[in-house]
Amino acid sequence: MTSITILGIESSCDETAVAVVRRNPDGQYRVLSNEVWSQTEAHAPYGGVVPEIAARSHVERIDGLMVAALENASTEPGEIDAVAATAGPGLVGGVMVGLTAAKGFALAHDLPLLPVNHLEGHALSVHLTQQTNYPYLLLLVSGGHTQLIAVEGLGQYHRMGTTIDDAAGEAFDKTAKLLGLGQPGGPMIERAATGGRADRFALPKPLAKRDGADFSFSGLKTAVRLAVEGLSSPTGQDVADIAASFQAAAARHLADRTARAMELFDQKYRKSTQLGHDRDWPLVVAGGVAANCTIKAALSDICSVRGWVLSAPPVKFCTDNGAMIGVAGAERFAAGLIPERDEALAFAPRARWPLAPPPMGAEHGGGKKGPKA
Ligand code: KG4
Ligand code: ZN
Repeated sequence: MTSITILGIESSCDETAVAVVRRNPDGQYRVLSNEVWSQTEAHAPYGGVVPEIAARSHVERIDGLMVAALENASTEPGEIDAVAATAGPGLVGGVMVGLTAAKGFALAHDLPLLPVNHLEGHALSVHLTQQTNYPYLLLLVSGGHTQLIAVEGLGQYHRMGTTIDDAAGEAFDKTAKLLGLGQPGGPMIERAATGGRADRFALPKPLAKRDGADFSFSGLKTAVRLAVEGLSSPTGQDVADIAASFQAAAARHLADRTARAMELFDQKYRKSTQLGHDRDWPLVVAGGVAANCTIKAALSDICSVRGWVLSAPPVKFCTDNGAMIGVAGAERFAAGLIPERDEALAFAPRARWPLAPPPMGAEHGGGKKGPKA
């Protein structure tokens, strides 16, 4: 097999992103270019992502980013083997922009088109920087998702837990808003928490008595609101202490539920796979929240006491980017999972597209909750 070069396009939320990635025959990757235009400033006055503004901004940027991605990769269209684009889940207006641009490029250069599930991109992004054997446990923590997924192989995903209310990133964003900090809330809370006392406010431990590996963040958010309301006029130190207390509680919760998923994963795979006896299992984190150092430290702790190894890709590959869509496309291309041309060109953008079906008997759906994925 020769190397595979893929143009990867992402436009499901508030980042317009295009990358060129090359998969070598040994499965190792080279990211030849990785262009990202973040719309954060355009949405800032509204306190959240506005779908119409997002879609318009994708339209304005996508062509220029495709040209820049090819130029910076020193790659001609003729050297591209296939185009991969996010086809969902996400804000449909945005997904449509990237997917349509990909269809146009594929038609113009007579290339295969691979419609990609954005979540599969997150799930496989670890391969960009390190070779990770299947199966591994994925903790996907972003603005729209908080899920624990057993990644058995390409296209084989088993959901072990999901949030029953807010996503982790959403909780950070809402808490930052309550504290009068800017958006996106995660980095703001992390910065504010540096000078704060994490033990000043006793916040609840969500789902402490519930089996399984689901998450819940709405109770923490309410507890923060009550703490803020209990202070007549919060000082800078109060804000720092609340931010630190919230961040510590969120990190504890993520680590606690991940530890439960590790037990489920162990039961499912360790006995049935020889690999389990002579190597550590990988815990892979992806999504913007994975940038948080307190959260990474809490995950690292549970890994070291249980014989797991934490794989946290660089932040630029954790947050939304075109390279992760390129990886999902390249893995599918290498496996021969290439849809018929007519089928790919007719593929419609999907607002909801669960990566893994909900476990048997689960009462809540597997799709996307908020506007982010
Ligand atoms: O994966 P991402 O870039 O976009 C999607 O949601 O798809 O994740 C964005 C989310 C936001 O909610 C943001 O507040 C959160 O990730 N985030 C963080 C940090 N950096 C970004 N949360 C906690 N700590 C951070 N340092
Ligand atoms: Zn995402």
